[in-house]
Amino acid sequence: MNDTATTQTDWTQSDVLKAPTEICWQFDYEISQQKLLNLYKKAKQHQWDADEQLDWSIEIDPSQPIIDQNAHLFLRLPFFQRLPKAQRDTFAAHSTAQLLSQFLHGEQGALMTASVLTHAVPDYDAKLYCATQAMDEARHVEVYERYVRKLAITYPISPWLKELIDATLAADHYAKVMVGMNMVVEGLALAAFHNMRRTTTCPLLRSITEYVLRDESRHVAFGNVYLRETIAQMHPDEREDVAQFAFEAVKGMADAQGGPDGKGQRKADPGFMKVLEHCGIELHDFLQALQEAGAAGINFKLPPGHVHSFRDLMMPALVRVGAVTERSRALYAQAGIPVWDDVSVLESMEDADTGDIVFPE
Ligand SMILES: [Fe+2]
Ligand SMILES: [Fe+2]
Repeated sequence: MNDTATTQTDWTQSDVLKAPTEICWQFDYEISQQKLLNLYKKAKQHQWDADEQLDWSIEIDPSQPIIDQNAHLFLRLPFFQRLPKAQRDTFAAHSTAQLLSQFLHGEQGALMTASVLTHAVPDYDAKLYCATQAMDEARHVEVYERYVRKLAITYPISPWLKELIDATLAADHYAKVMVGMNMVVEGLALAAFHNMRRTTTCPLLRSITEYVLRDESRHVAFGNVYLRETIAQMHPDEREDVAQFAFEAVKGMADAQGGPDGKGQRKADPGFMKVLEHCGIELHDFLQALQEAGAAGINFKLPPGHVHSFRDLMMPALVRVGAVTERSRALYAQAGIPVWDDVSVLESMEDADTGDIVFPE
C-alpha cells in the first residue's frame, strides 16, 4: 500500500537554510563539568545498533491500529465509538502514522541541531557529548524511517514543528539551539515517546521507542546541565535574548498543542486534515465531536501518575537554567502560559551523576 498522503504539495522538497552560529575551536581540552563528561561516557556505553538489537522481521499490517485504542485520545470520544469499526481502525492507523511521521521529521531536525552544537559549543567535553547526540539522532532517523516505510504511510512535517526547528537551526547562539531543541522539542518528545512506549501494541515499535527514549533523556539532560552554566555567565542583554527565544519557542509549541494544558483550540494542521480526509471524516464533524465531548464532561486529563512534561519537566527546567527572566515572565502571563517552577518532579527523576531523566515504567 502506497498511500496518497505521500503525494502532495511540495513538502518533500529539500530545504536549505543558513546556520549563523559561531564555529569554535577549543585547544585547552579541559573538562568544564564532570556531569558532562559522565553524560558523554554514558552515551558511549549506551550506543546500540538497530540492525542488531531490533527484530525487523516483525510483520505490520498498515491497515490495523498499532496502539491500544482505549488509550487513544480521540478514539475514546463518543463520536468515534459510533463510527463503523473499519473507519475507526483507519483513523487509528493514520493518526498514529501521522504522529510517527512527526517523530521521523523531528529526528532529522535533531540530527542537524546536534551537528550545529558540535561545532558551536565552546567547551571540549560539550563537543564530545554533542557528537554522541548526533550519532544518536542519526540512529533515530534510521529507525523511524525504517518503521514508517513498513507502514507505507508518510505525512508531512507539521508547520509549527518545522517553524520551531527552523528557528532553532537558524538561531545565532548555541544557547538558543539548545533551548529550542534540547529543552523544548525534546522535552515534548520525551513525553510523546514515553506515551508511545506505554500504549503501542506493536512489539517492534515498543522496542524502538524504548531505545530512543533512553537516548532522548540524555539529550534533555544535556540542555538542563550545560545551559545553566552558559546562561549564568551571559551578559544580561544576551540572557534576555535567550529568554525571548525560549518564550517564543514555548508559545509556538503551546499554541500548536491547544495551550499548555491541551484543552484549548489547536491550530489546524494540514497533515491531520489529511488524516480526517483519508478516513472520510468531515472537519466540521470532528470539531463538533470535540465540543460534544467537552459538554459531556469528557476531558483529556492525564491518567494519575503520568508525568506532565510541560508542567513538570520543561517549564521548571527552563526556569532553573535561567531561560525565564522577570521580563519574560510578564510575556508568559500575557499569553496565559503559567510559569511552573516547581522542580520537585524533575529532580526526583534526575540521575545525580549525569542529570539523565529516568521515566517510571
Ligand atoms: Fe532523537
Ligand atoms: Fe534527541
